Formats: sequence, structure tokens, C-alpha cells
Amino acid sequence: MNPENEADDSFTLTDNGTGESWKLPARTGTMGNRLVDIKSLYGTTGLLTYDPGFTSTASCKSDITFIDGEKGILLHRGYSIADLAEKSDFMEVCYLLLYGELPTPEEKNSFNTDIKHHTLIHEQLARFYSGFMRSAHPMAIMVGVVGALSAFYHDSTDITDIEQRRLAAHRLIAKMPTIGACAYKYSLGLPFPTPRNNLSYAENLLQMMFSNPAEDYEILPALSRAVDRLLILHADHEQNASTSTVRLAGSSGANPYACIASGIASLWGPAHGGANEAVLKMLEEIGSVDRIRKYIAKAQDKKDPFRLMGFGHRVYKNYDPRATVMRKSCHEVLSTLGIQDPQLELAMRLEEIALNDDYFIEKKLYPNVDFYSGIIMKAMGFPTSMFTVMFAIGRTVGWISHWKEMLVDDEQKIGRPRQLYSGKKQRRHISLDRRGHTEKKISWSWLWGGGR
Ligand code: CMC
Repeated sequence: MNPENEADDSFTLTDNGTGESWKLPARTGTMGNRLVDIKSLYGTTGLLTYDPGFTSTASCKSDITFIDGEKGILLHRGYSIADLAEKSDFMEVCYLLLYGELPTPEEKNSFNTDIKHHTLIHEQLARFYSGFMRSAHPMAIMVGVVGALSAFYHDSTDITDIEQRRLAAHRLIAKMPTIGACAYKYSLGLPFPTPRNNLSYAENLLQMMFSNPAEDYEILPALSRAVDRLLILHADHEQNASTSTVRLAGSSGANPYACIASGIASLWGPAHGGANEAVLKMLEEIGSVDRIRKYIAKAQDKKDPFRLMGFGHRVYKNYDPRATVMRKSCHEVLSTLGIQDPQLELAMRLEEIALNDDYFIEKKLYPNVDFYSGIIMKAMGFPTSMFTVMFAIGRTVGWISHWKEMLVDDEQKIGRPRQLYSGKKQRRHISLDRRGHTEKKISWSWLWGGGR
């Protein structure tokens, strides 16, 4: 595929076998890479493209978030993540992502009030938790309870109704901290918390997580600021796996609660939001500075499944700008709390060794947001199993903003990728009594390992 002259702004695809050529239009966003628009490719040529993991595929157009992975730039609606983390609060960022502009004081006040009026969860939904094992991972509970919201809030599942869409969006943002805190309290056998509408979003999240009815709970401003910043840093990240999952689920017309539940499920994986929990487990496993080299070597060994968690990113080939803010915040929280955390020292040394290692330099593997977020959350008292829940609480607004945007996109279609079929050609059916023994040693592990 060769770029033609700039003036005509198209590409020519030539089949070298037949000499046939087709013109494909170029597309350019307000910033970022030039794209080849292949929408009409199959219709006009009968050809498909092959791109596992969508490494070269833009699945949609979006006004929400821009990333320049080479330069380490992240903008939400044009504002840098560093500015938003320093100068805005999470509610402003929610409004910005959802509605495109930073709110005026009146808009902010009205948005805050509306969110606060949806923080409670239905009493019957609270009873839903008792069906789970106390030992269940809170992310398992999140997938179930958020998916179940559609069974409780029928008045906001009609996606063709703008007011119902707004209601579902605000409900989800408002209820996620309550649902997450209840999952935590359930695991401890403690009473479910009551949201406090006189508190900010971050303060309320802290009080729901850590207060109990028997004692007063003091919210340290440094901690609520750190939680607020953590939520901002997780609020959106363009077409990542969970956001793409939400868009794909939503493209079929599924209701918003089901879509967000699908996003939570996707986020849970250790290559995505589950990495913050995996970083802490990795640091525990490494244990001490003198064992770092061994683990750096393991990460480079192709036969070893071990990867340095919290390192690398599909888009960033530079320092993740969220990690820069998170690193600073991490030091602030630890010094405010007077915590000397040996795991932070281990993490700092690991970061230093990896950043100077040829393998990580050559593959442009830098620390990502998850490398520091787990250490901050641990310092604030969040149990490891709640780390990805915190990520999900922050990311909900991003998921819902993309879902909202997708529903009014005039190019939107049901997401339905094609495939490169590599299976058997059509063959005759053989009846059971005529199927012979095979020479191959069949075992479940052989079958599940792709043996067939
Ligand atoms: N440790 C060791 N090697 C790595 C790592 C790592 N953390 N990440 C990538 N590589 C290697 C990988 O083996 C591959 O090597 P080769 O070219 O020899 O095959 C090369 O770097 C490119 O990696 P890739 O797997 O092809 O890249 P990807 O874009 O498919 O994966 C990733 C991106 C984030 C899944 C991956 O870097 C990873 O698994 N990192 C650890 C998990 C993690 O921290 N995830 C959080 C991501 S940020 C938060 C979020 O958005 O959820």
C-alpha cells in the first residue's frame, strides 16, 4: 500500500498478483496518525485485513481522549492529564469526559448534586450480595452486582431515550463507590456503609471503605486528595481493552449496566487493570533488592511466562504520563502518613534497574500507571483485592462517556470483526462407531494447549 500524492489524500492498494489497484481514502483526525479508511475494502474488493490485537486498527472516531504514545502525552478533551490531576477534581473530570467541557460553577454544582442523589443502592440489591461467598474476589462481585443493576433500574435501560441514558450514566458514576465499598465490607462481615452526601466523591469513598458504625472516622485531606487524583488518573484511556469491550457490548444495543459490567470483566485481567494487584504480588514475590536481577532475567526469558508487572504499554513507548503523576503522589502520601515502605524502596530500585537494562530500553518498556498505584493504595489501607475495584470506580466515567459518544455516532455499526480461518476444510461427518483411534496422545492439557 503506497501513499499517493498528498493532494489527492488517498492510498492505492495494488494486488501484485493481478495488477489490480484500488483507491482507499486517507483520514486525519485533529491530532495523531494518518489513517487508511478501509471501510469499503471488503465491499469493493472482497478482501479483509488481518490485525490481531488491533495493533494497527482505529475501531472508531472519538473526541474524548488523545494519546501520543511516543511523546508520552495524554489529553482529555484537549486538557493534559497533569493539569487535570493538579488543578481539577474528579467530579470536574467526570463532567469534562461526559459533556466535553470543564463545568462552570453552576454546572459543577448541579452535576455534583445530581450524582449525590444517586449514591444509595436499592435495598434488594444489597441483599443480592449474600448470594456470594464471603471469600469471593471483589471484582467477581462487581461484575455480578453491576450487571444486576439492569434488573433494578428498568427506568434507565431504554437506550433510545436521552433522559434514560443520562440517568443511567449518572447512576453508574454515583453508585460504583457504594457497590465497591459494599463488596469490601461483605468480605469482612461488616455492615454495609451508608453514603454521606455532605462529603466529596473521594471523601465519601474513603468513609464508606474505612469507617464503621461503632467509631468516628477522620478523613485526612491528604488521603482524600490522593484518592481523588487516583480516580482522575484512571478516568479514561482511549480505546483500551475494557473501553473497547464496553463499546462492542453497547454496539449491539445492550443496556448500559450490562455494558459496564462487561467493561469490569475485561478490566479484571492482569494485562489490564488487574496489573495493580499483580504489581504488589510481584513485589512480595521478589522480596528484596538482591533478588531483582533474577526477576529481570526471568522477565526477559521467553520460556518463562513471568513479565514485569506495571511495565510496558501497547500505546506508550515512553514514560506513561499517569505514572509520573502517580509516582509524585505516592511519595506525598507515604511522607504524609510517615510510612517507610520497604516495598516502595524495592519498587524504586526495580524501576531504576529496569530503566537501565538493554532489554527494557530496546523494547521501550517504561513503568505504567499500575506500577505506583498499588503502593499508594496499600499505604492508604486498601487491601490488594480492592485495587482493581478502585480502577473500575475511576474508569466508569470513561466507559460511559465512550458508550454515550458511540450511541450518537452516525458511523456506528454493530461491532463484528472477521477472521483468518485456519481450521479444517469442509469434510464428511463420520459416525461414532467408525471413528478410529488416533496415534496422537490425547490428554485434556494437550487439547486445551491448542493441540488439535
Ligand atoms: N515484561 C517483560 N517483557 C515485556 C513486558 C513486561 N512487562 N511487556 C512487554 N514485554 C515484551 C514482550 O515480551 C514483547 O517482546 P518480543 O518483542 O520479544 O516478543 C515486547 O515487549 C512487546 O510486548 P507485547 O506483549 O507485544 O506488547 P503489547 O502491546 O501486546 O502488551 C502489555 C502490552 C501492557 C499487555 C504488556 O506490556 C504487559 O503485559 N505488561 C505487564 C502488565 C501491565 O503492567 N499491564 C498494565 C497496562 S497499563 C494499565 C492499563 O491500561 O490497564
